[in-house]
Amino acid sequence: MADIKFFGSSDFPVEMHKVRIIQKLNLLPVDERLDSITDAGNNTFLLKNRNVFLDMLTDSGTNAMSDKQLAAMMTADDSYAGSETFYRLEAKIQEVFGTKYFLPAHQGRACENLLSQVLVTRPGMIVPMNYHFTTTKAHISRFGAEVEEIVVDEGLVVKSKNPFKGNLNVDKLRELIKTRKDDIAFVRLEAGTNLIGGQPVSMANVKEVSELCRKEGIIFVLDASLLADNLYFIKTREDAYKNKTIAQIMLEIGELTDIIYFSARKLGFARGGGICVHRQDLMERIRELVPLFEGFLTYGGMSVREMEALTVGLDETLDMDMISQAPQFISHMVDELSAMNIPVVTPAGGLGCHLNAKEILSHIPQERYPAGALAAALYIVSGIRGMERGTLSEQRNPDGTEPLANMELVRLAVPRRVFTLSQIKYAIDRINWLYQNRGLVGGLKFTEEPKILRFFYGRLAPDSDWQERLVKKFKEDFGESL
Ligand code: F0G
Repeated sequence: MADIKFFGSSDFPVEMHKVRIIQKLNLLPVDERLDSITDAGNNTFLLKNRNVFLDMLTDSGTNAMSDKQLAAMMTADDSYAGSETFYRLEAKIQEVFGTKYFLPAHQGRACENLLSQVLVTRPGMIVPMNYHFTTTKAHISRFGAEVEEIVVDEGLVVKSKNPFKGNLNVDKLRELIKTRKDDIAFVRLEAGTNLIGGQPVSMANVKEVSELCRKEGIIFVLDASLLADNLYFIKTREDAYKNKTIAQIMLEIGELTDIIYFSARKLGFARGGGICVHRQDLMERIRELVPLFEGFLTYGGMSVREMEALTVGLDETLDMDMISQAPQFISHMVDELSAMNIPVVTPAGGLGCHLNAKEILSHIPQERYPAGALAAALYIVSGIRGMERGTLSEQRNPDGTEPLANMELVRLAVPRRVFTLSQIKYAIDRINWLYQNRGLVGGLKFTEEPKILRFFYGRLAPDSDWQERLVKKFKEDFGESL
């Protein structure tokens, strides 16, 4: 956003866009919210959006499009093979990342499927990375490899001042290379990270990882799904880059990696995905799978209209006014909540504001899913839908035991260009009330637990009548207010 100085004592973010199309929202009375979350098995993924006021579940496919993106959609070339739309997108990718080849896919996890199939050549391999994402780990383990998480120690410290908590610990990577080099399928860097609070990686870290991989002949893969926020943080937090343009930073990242893949549901304000590759041999190995799993090479399962929107969206990603809105809103939320002593992940990252459920609900053991309970409670008291990012989001070990997550977070995503500051202020107000009444919140237990990615459609029940008691207190304090 523009560099605006304020006359009054406190700063706040100002949107550098205006709203031209709106969608009406619905805020149900608190009793109906309790009914809705009960119907949804206390899993916010299973709520019907018509019953949600502010949908802060994710920024995936929910970012607002611009007038220019919508206009571009009308120019899409609807042909199965050789679509003009593809060549426009391919040229844009070449321009922003400097990569030679572009393979389209229908979304981020599709890229992960293709990459794991090609690069995990036998069971027993490992994939070192700063931190895993749910779908990434699921695909890598499907082909028999194991994820080795080597984020810097501070990445897992909730309250910190480290501006780049997403960095990969290069010493640990060196150690892994020393002991298990032949087992390394590839090295993956997620920029920025998802499950540890949208924390970014620095360009210095990208460079170090790149140099080491090049020296050792190991393939270096960048997950750029959350790159827009990460670009903003490199420019605003890394001194050496404050005078570089976003285009220069993006291109430099592109040159340091062998493969970049992304979910275009996040990067580029559209929907879809793709894999960008420098090397012809690698591209050819992955290319074989595209028509098999995704679609022909010039659409890869994406709608051509979305591809046109993505081309324009990538251009908008080079514009600091466009990419700074979400991180600045998140930072506003984090600052206000921190001032009220409410435990949140700091420093503010990208993607969303992350509540620290482990501390807020310290009376609930991890086996009773404090982050899931907090997400359900927040919906009841506000109509806001957040996402559990804790033990519920983990998979059981092959022996059936349950790994306890490093962090128990409730992610309140801030989709780009969607919410207004008054909506963010409503969220802060209700989180504050919930925090003051946190003692009323109890735990959850599974009633139905799927084997794979259980957080998506598992169903849970409260372990006491705590939800009824929470509603009662809400009514005592707020009367008939929504
Ligand atoms: N990588 C990262 C870092 C992601 O955040 C996601 C998706 C993916 C890969 C997979 O991409 O959804 O297009 O298949 N994150 C979403 C979220 C689901 O809500 O955070 P996808």
